[in-house]
Amino acid sequence: MSLIGTDIQLAAKYLRHSDVIGLPTETVYGLAGNAFDSEAVARIFAVKNRPTFDPLIVHTSSPERLTHFVEDIPEQAQVLARQFWPGALTLLLPRKEIIPDLVTSGLDTVAVRIPNHPLTLQLLDSLDFPLAAPSANPFGYISPTRAEHVQAQLGGQVSYILDGGPCMIGIESTIIGFPEGKPTVFRLGGIALEVIEKSIGSVAVMPHSSSNPLAPGMLKSHYAPRKPLFISSPDKLLSQYKPEQIGYIGFTTPHPDLPPQNQCILSPTHSYTEAARNLFAALRKLDTLPVQIIAAELLPEKDLGRAINDRLRRAAAV
Ligand code: TXA
Ligand code: MG
Repeated sequence: MSLIGTDIQLAAKYLRHSDVIGLPTETVYGLAGNAFDSEAVARIFAVKNRPTFDPLIVHTSSPERLTHFVEDIPEQAQVLARQFWPGALTLLLPRKEIIPDLVTSGLDTVAVRIPNHPLTLQLLDSLDFPLAAPSANPFGYISPTRAEHVQAQLGGQVSYILDGGPCMIGIESTIIGFPEGKPTVFRLGGIALEVIEKSIGSVAVMPHSSSNPLAPGMLKSHYAPRKPLFISSPDKLLSQYKPEQIGYIGFTTPHPDLPPQNQCILSPTHSYTEAARNLFAALRKLDTLPVQIIAAELLPEKDLGRAINDRLRRAAAV
């Protein structure tokens, strides 16, 4: 078990000693360490059991600090940064030498983000280095949206868990890079595509791939519960399984033939924001219930529905 609390000074002390901690953000909890310190970064990969070809996001608290480790910020990236930081946006920018190779898996871009969480912004302000932080889950499992989730999955392996309450957004940041100068979404996330396009015009969206070296983070099998997850209406599964064997994730409406306690309705009021906030906790809950399989129905492909569907599809991938 790890110590959980709200002591920013204690968190900073551990981080200055190359330790790693659990850290709140508005998207999901991170597993954070000094991004300039290869020893701390190696510890992040080890604790997460993450392959070193999957690079990390570097978190900082101001655009001025960013210039210490980023070479140049393209015009469109500046527009996005001004509009969405602090927030659920990660930009892929040309890196400076000071960022260890391990952070970027040898790529010449570094993923950067100013997160929107008061405790974490205060912590970052008190440090003279940025924090590398992937989501604080074991590689391939569901991302944590509460301090207790970090404790359940990584307790004992982190020196401290900074408790910032439940995450307000609940899914990871939207990642945007600029290959050949063209703004491109590398991962759908907490800021909807429509909102990004309103800001900078049309953007390309990378298809998922487990073999594209440009996009190492787009491994398909991700965010997965341990129970088999099917993208399907429960109706189709009821011929093979008894009602009590099926757990269900739906957007607005429970299924009449399944036990209510085995169902997670993401937003009875049809809110994409609320659905995103509830998604990972719902997957986590269904994974612990005595059901055999999980049936998940996709949301309309709009707004945060796109990112939610992306996570559900990846959770279902085999
Ligand atoms: O909301 C978030 O982004 C959370 C919080 C903690 O900030 N972090 C997060 O980190 O989701 P992680 O490591 O779980 O996902 C980061 C993704 C990975 O899929 C990684 O491959 C990709 O970002 N990535 C990092 N650097 C990259 C780069 N230079 N080029 C392409 N993809 C990159
Ligand atoms: Mg992750």
